[in-house]
Order: sequence, then C-alpha cells, then structure tokens
Amino acid sequence: MKSKEIIIQYTPRFPELHEALEKFRFCVFVMHRRAGKTVMAINHLIKQALLCDKPFGHFAFIAPFRTQAKSIAWEYAKHYTAVLPRTVNESELSITLPSRNGSAKIRLFGADNPDALRGLYYDFVVMDEVAQCKAEVWQEVIRPSLADRDGRCLFIGTPQGPNLFRDLFSLAQKEENTDWFAASYPISKTNVLDLEEVERIKAELGPDAFAREFLCDFNVAAATTLIPLALIQEAMRREYPEHVWKDSPLIVGVDVARYGDDSSVITLRQGLVVHPQLIYKGLSLTDLCGRVVSLYNEKKPAVLFVDAIGVGAGLVDRLRELGIPVVEALASARAIKADKFVNRRAEMYTELADWLKAGGKLPDDPSLAEELAAQEYEFTSTGKMLLLKKDKIKEKIGRSPDKSDSLALCWFNAAPITTEEYHAGLKFNTEADIAYEPLEY
Ligand SMILES: Nc1ncnc2c1ncn2[C@@H]1O[C@H](COP(=O)(O)OP(=O)(O)OP(=O)(O)O)[C@@H](O)[C@H]1O
Ligand SMILES: [Mg+2]
Repeated sequence: MKSKEIIIQYTPRFPELHEALEKFRFCVFVMHRRAGKTVMAINHLIKQALLCDKPFGHFAFIAPFRTQAKSIAWEYAKHYTAVLPRTVNESELSITLPSRNGSAKIRLFGADNPDALRGLYYDFVVMDEVAQCKAEVWQEVIRPSLADRDGRCLFIGTPQGPNLFRDLFSLAQKEENTDWFAASYPISKTNVLDLEEVERIKAELGPDAFAREFLCDFNVAAATTLIPLALIQEAMRREYPEHVWKDSPLIVGVDVARYGDDSSVITLRQGLVVHPQLIYKGLSLTDLCGRVVSLYNEKKPAVLFVDAIGVGAGLVDRLRELGIPVVEALASARAIKADKFVNRRAEMYTELADWLKAGGKLPDDPSLAEELAAQEYEFTSTGKMLLLKKDKIKEKIGRSPDKSDSLALCWFNAAPITTEEYHAGLKFNTEADIAYEPLEY
C-alpha cells in the first residue's frame, strides 16, 4: 500500500542547521532574538519523533520556565502537529505522534522544576534559552538521561554573559570534540528582520543589550535580575506558624487589569507572609470594586494600595466615593529615595527584594516566580536604579506581570515589616506625603 503523504507547513529558515542537527550529537546554536529559534527547535523535534525507530520514543523541549514553555512553545507544537494523527495532553504538555516503531512522545518542561525531568530517558532534548536555565539541569539531570538511548541535545538561545551557554558554545567549538557542533547567527547573518526595524531596536535597547541580543556577543555582561530565582523558590517553600504573622497589620495591593487578557490581582500581606493571591480575569471594574469593598469590610486592612495608572484611576475614584480609604499607587511616581531610584516602581521592587532576603514567605505559584525573575535592573548615567520597562517584560514572558506588580504594590510606601514596628508608631505615609510626578519611565 502506498503510504499517505502529510505536509507540515514549515519551511526552514536555516536548512543548514537542520542538517547539522542530523550529523552531530550535540549542537549549540547561538542566535539573535526573533531569529526563529523556538520554531526551528520544535519542528526538529517533530521530525525526529516521527522518524524515531526505537520503541516509545521520548523527546523533550525545555524552556527556563514551564509557564514560558506553555505560553510560547506549546502553541507552536500544537500548530505544527495539527495535520498529524496525534494525541494532545494539555495537563502534561505532551503530544504523542505515530513513529516508525509505534509511537513517540514530545513533552514540554520548565527548567524551574528539574524534579519533573528526573528519572526519564530521552532520545532528543532541546534546551531553549539555555542562558536562563540552571546549569545543574544539563549537568545533573539531562546529560545522564541521554546515556541509555544515545540521546541527542540541541542547546539554543541568545547570549547573556558568561554562563552555561557560553561554556557549552566554547566546548562545541573545540576541534577535538567531534560530537559537538557550534554555530553563531547574529542579525547580520540572517536577514530575518528588516534594516529599519533593526535600527529602531538598536535605538530602543541601547548598545549593551543590542550587542547581547542581536550581535550574539557573550562578552557583554547579562542584564542583572533583581531577585534570583533561587531566592524566590526558597521564599515559596517557607512556612511560618500563624503566631508569626497573625497580629501584623494587613497590607493590600490591588493591580487592575488594563486589557482583556490581563488579570486583576489582589495581594494580602501580613508581616513576613504573603497569602495566596486573588486573581480575577475578565471582571468588570464595577465587579472588581465590589470585591475590594467586601474585602475591606471583612478584613479592615491597615492600608489599601490601588494601582492608579490608567483604568485603576477609575477604581480609586469609585472606592473613595464609597468611603473606602485607599492609597493611590502610581508606580511611575517619583521615588521616596529619589537620589537612588528613578521611580517608585524600582523602589518598591527593591523593598520587596529586601523583604525576601529578610525571610519573607511567598505563595507557591510558578507564574508569580517567573514574573518576579523577569525583573531586571540597570543604572542610569546619574547612578539611579531603573527596572526593565513593563512592555519589555511582557515581550519576555508573553504576558503582563500582573501578579508580581500586585505583590510589589504592598511595598508602595515604606511599610513596617513587623508588628512591633507598627505598634511603635511607624505608620504608613498617607497620600498627602507623596509627590506624584509621573515620569517618562
Ligand atoms: N521558518 C519559519 N517560517 C515562518 N515563520 C517563522 C519561521 N520561524 C519563525 N517564524 C516566525 O518568526 C517569529 C519568531 O519565531 P520564534 O519564536 O521561533 O523566534 P525566537 O528566535 O525563538 O524568538 P525569541 O528570541 O523571542 O525567543 C514567530 O512569529 C514565528 O512564527
Ligand atoms: Mg524563542
């Protein structure tokens, strides 16, 4: 019988890289942003799965965070396999395809949870955005799991200073490592983006970030993350008995959704503990107002911060009409320590980071962890600290950081951490103390 031909709608941008992937066991591709890395890697996995002649083929795509794998690569994986007879498992993030020897499974993982990757075997692994993945994931988890079936691995990403990715790139370039292949594709080599767009990006990013993200330069130091992932994860594992936080003043932060896809998030903090966040998607401003009023009446927080940028201003007005005392929180306002921070946003995230170092407990929520870890900082020429702009964070994680913004609001004003401080008279600033001077950032 003639076999049926199925065509996958994918035309490789870089056919030579697919060839290298067939030839070499370990490939390290350093490529600029938006080059088409993730699409290429997913399509290579699909082809390998279909051609796999070992029984129960097992293929993995690893992004730095599971939420990231889900928001970006999962859509690509479903899109490109749509024409194939397949079984999709949404909760496991896996797709099972027919292969030469039965079936093969492609699974998506996050390097933020190495335990989910342990104890399995792999025929082919893709590590996407290697620079952001923990080194142990490769060394301790993936490398050993490739041993039984002569598994292969593709490392792909954009440079972020000296780390695992750079080490693997150097290793792959050494002549004696005949199993390894290295390729670098800066923007000048791909013609993927038009020149005007490249010029615009260059002006927006500044020279360092452009050299890193588009010229694939490992020598430029990585943008610095404000809160290391390890600290976030440790904070999510902490447990405190009730007496530690029960009498601390309740601080509430309300981040209001701006667009249809965003969520409104309410955060409740007491001393060293942040409770699980309340998340509302698609709620009208009137309904959100109702939730805030009942929360206020029930819990009588010591202070209620409401993000007052854009639609949030409407919520502030409405709550005030109803007699609820709210503090209007403008992240773009001038910092309290204006000599150190460009705006309140940088200042409140820094206080949140200090609180985490002091032992703060966060609710265990991987997407909150991802949003917090995405906050990068740098210094202006006048030495003030500045956080990565929100639309850049959106590009990076594929959504608005609503949860981390709501959390950071709990530090909008220097709020007392302990019950003792609170009772000793260290009260919150009132809005009258705050000079609102919306800045450019
Ligand atoms: N071979 C291809 N044919 C057509 N479109 C493609 C191809 N490869 C990538 N694209 C498109 O280019 C865009 C970027 O692709 P992709 O997400 O794979 O890039 P990336 O290099 O992983 O980007 P980032 O650096 O943001 O992670 C997407 O819109 C994708 O659909
Ligand atoms: Mg990508």
